[in-house]
Amino acid sequence: MAVARSSRSAAATPRTGAEIRAAFLSFYEERGHKVMASASLIPEDPTVLLTIAGMLPFKPVFLGQQKRPAPRATSSQKCIRTNDIENVGRTARHHTFFEMLGNFSFGDYFKQQAIEWAWELSTDLFGIDPKHLVVSVFREDDEAEQIWRDVVGVNPKRIIRMDEADNFWASGPTGPCGPCSEIYYDFKPELGDEGIDLEDDERFIEFYNLVFMQYNRDAEGTLTPLANRNIDTGLGLERMAQILQKVPNNYETDLIFPLIQTAADLAGVDYHQLDDAGQTSLKVIGDHSRAVTQLICDGVSASNLGRGYILRRLLRRVVRHGRLLGIHQPFLVTMGQASIALLQDAHPSVIERQEVILAELEREESRFLETLERGEKLLAEVLESKPKQISGAQAFELYDTYGFPLELTQEIAEEQGLDVDLAGFEQAMEQQRQRAKAAAVSIDLTLQDAIDQVAADLNATAFEGYDLLEQSSSTVQALLVNGEAATSASDGDVVQ
Ligand code: ALA
Repeated sequence: MAVARSSRSAAATPRTGAEIRAAFLSFYEERGHKVMASASLIPEDPTVLLTIAGMLPFKPVFLGQQKRPAPRATSSQKCIRTNDIENVGRTARHHTFFEMLGNFSFGDYFKQQAIEWAWELSTDLFGIDPKHLVVSVFREDDEAEQIWRDVVGVNPKRIIRMDEADNFWASGPTGPCGPCSEIYYDFKPELGDEGIDLEDDERFIEFYNLVFMQYNRDAEGTLTPLANRNIDTGLGLERMAQILQKVPNNYETDLIFPLIQTAADLAGVDYHQLDDAGQTSLKVIGDHSRAVTQLICDGVSASNLGRGYILRRLLRRVVRHGRLLGIHQPFLVTMGQASIALLQDAHPSVIERQEVILAELEREESRFLETLERGEKLLAEVLESKPKQISGAQAFELYDTYGFPLELTQEIAEEQGLDVDLAGFEQAMEQQRQRAKAAAVSIDLTLQDAIDQVAADLNATAFEGYDLLEQSSSTVQALLVNGEAATSASDGDVVQ
């Protein structure tokens, strides 16, 4: 079969985020897939903190632990990934919150059908000229390469073999997994077919991952074939929007840009006139505003633990980047309102939960602004001692304990003719990372875990309410403040 050229008129090509989502779901619905609603960002799976992929709600189905909802399914799944948070706003495509469009086969169709439909969807439905496409296959997957080459008709020079790191997908260290094949968009096809390097971010963006889910990996790393051969795929909605809207990055799509505009208006700046640092701050605000709105919507509240900590960190980053842009007044509620307006058509629950969302944003921001002010006082004290330089340890304490942005410390130091020991700061940061890494292994991920732990450490207590009609006295044996064991609490703390 020859490479199919787009047979649809340009007018029919989906363009907005909403059109892309709807077109994807209908395409697979027409091909016998049951359309499934997005699951919560809080997964039922206790081994992961947040929903990180469209397949997560189907993990028990892949493992044969749950009945399949249908032989084939399709969904647009809300996801959050925070492993690359430092890259958000700095690259064209990193996000915390994003939507993953997926088609799934539970022991029904397999490799060839998945590849053929993915190609048809990309070239016909989305109208992408095949000269803009490159595919990757797992190093050992001769079959996938043969299908792309002989059945679909892709130029062999545009089929790239990759190893495990790129082309073997798993949702975690254990569980269902398999080799995958990815479709990339080539922004510069004029550079030709020789020496293609898919790591070149300026030239390529991966937008569709087809996982041939056929193994289960156990804790020892052993792969056992699953009872069924399955298909799990993920197409990044924001990435496809970037491609079809022909904008330079995901943030400038209609899925996020209105939030950047809201923040730019609050700061009194023009996004297009800003330098890289300013644009990055606006992109972080745009990205994180969607994420925090969705997290609170799905029931997360800010704390120092697990998901709550992720939410807190994201919220603080929004405030911090707002300050870098000169927004000093509280503005999270405005960002929350703008996010709700943007998300409500595709995610009506944000409207139902809007009071909770806005209240949490307001509370957490005012709490953080107080901490920031305490940090400002500390910095003033440091400066009073007339140091030659702000040490790395001091800058780090301001950053870590008081949530004080390094850039802000630098700015204030500069006003006093001082600089900040950046190498020392980096070193302190690295030590913190190492500590966090070591701690991550033993940290309890949910509040319930913390409560269970405390209960397990104590002797059983008797409930006397059935026998006594009068007040009796008892002793508080344990206290959790913001999810952590503590011996005292202060006004405003969330305690158990
Ligand atoms: N589960 C695969 C991914 O997240 C499709 O890339």
